[in-house]
Amino acid sequence: MDSAAVFPASTDRLPVRPRGVGLEAGAPLTRIHTLPEAFALAGAELAAAELRLAELVQSEVAVVGAIGAYLAQAGGKRLRPMLTALGAGAVGHSATPGLLCVGEMIHLGSLLHDDVVDEAADRRGKPAAQHVFGNAGVILTGDFCLARAVLLASTEGGHLTVTRLAEAVTAMAEGEVLQLQRAGNLSTSRAEYVETIDKKSAALISWCAAAGAYASGAHRHAEALARYGREIGVAFQITDDVLDYQPGTGKPVGQDLREQKLTLPLLLAMARVPGLRERVERGDDVQGLCDSVRACGALEDALAEARARVEGAIAHLGVLPAGPYYDALVILGRHLVDRAT
Ligand code: IPE
Ligand code: IPE
Ligand code: MG
Ligand code: MG
Repeated sequence: MDSAAVFPASTDRLPVRPRGVGLEAGAPLTRIHTLPEAFALAGAELAAAELRLAELVQSEVAVVGAIGAYLAQAGGKRLRPMLTALGAGAVGHSATPGLLCVGEMIHLGSLLHDDVVDEAADRRGKPAAQHVFGNAGVILTGDFCLARAVLLASTEGGHLTVTRLAEAVTAMAEGEVLQLQRAGNLSTSRAEYVETIDKKSAALISWCAAAGAYASGAHRHAEALARYGREIGVAFQITDDVLDYQPGTGKPVGQDLREQKLTLPLLLAMARVPGLRERVERGDDVQGLCDSVRACGALEDALAEARARVEGAIAHLGVLPAGPYYDALVILGRHLVDRAT
């Protein structure tokens, strides 16, 4: 699946309304109903953020800029800037392009690190950065991206924004380590799996949804957006784990099995396919294991769990003002799972 087609980088702003208009009591609200409308709502802001991102990965040390640009320009869905734009819009806040880039910069840093740790072959349809630039430069550029993002969160969002971000990055690091510790342990429970993905992926997604509310001091709304982000973040990672069994993501099929990661599809499949656990234990051919997981309906059941979590996430948004940004958060949340079907 071409991620650009799934998440069209549309900059065609629909004639909805200028920023902020429509959130006032009694003002007419232009509601939206489709994914293209949701993308269009944030289109102009995302285009500005894209330009800012290209600047942010640059460095006076040329190789750092080369590694940052290699990954940043390879594509990617830009989910995190999108969430920041929509979450900010939902509380009537206009996030700066820099604030929109914070989540993506953290994400870039974490991907650089993740692909070294996971020994991944490809990322965003290209060889993972360490195959081009070497492990050491990639790890240190990952640090550069993380530190630059934290600085940016401080200058563009203030104290609470950067404090919450530091908490999210702490959780990400813990989640990645938990995952490593649990790799190959076929007794990993569902609760342990959820704990891992909640930390490694959902914590940052949660921050992205709430960043504009942190920056504008909208505390009650920040709480609701953070909870929404946490739940869709778990659903997003479950979906990523399902997509590991499908071609077209720009990442190798079966990578999680190769790394002996116990993801939800595999946990469900091992509980229902006789002998599968033993085959995983023996390290059988990844292709055959993937076929067994696909054939037993585990992917559909994992997606059903992800969908239920998205609906739980949406329930948290009830305290937000109704309007197009609220609508877009609902539509985007559902799309994060539907992209896999
Ligand atoms: C990949 O994230 C890592 C996960 C947390 C699953 P994305 O699926 O958002 O990756 P890009 O940014 O589109 O490449
Ligand atoms: C990545 O999780 C999470 C972070 C980068 C923190 P995965 O290892 O599942 O992501 P992919 O599949 O490599 O994109
Ligand atoms: Mg990985
Ligand atoms: Mg994955």
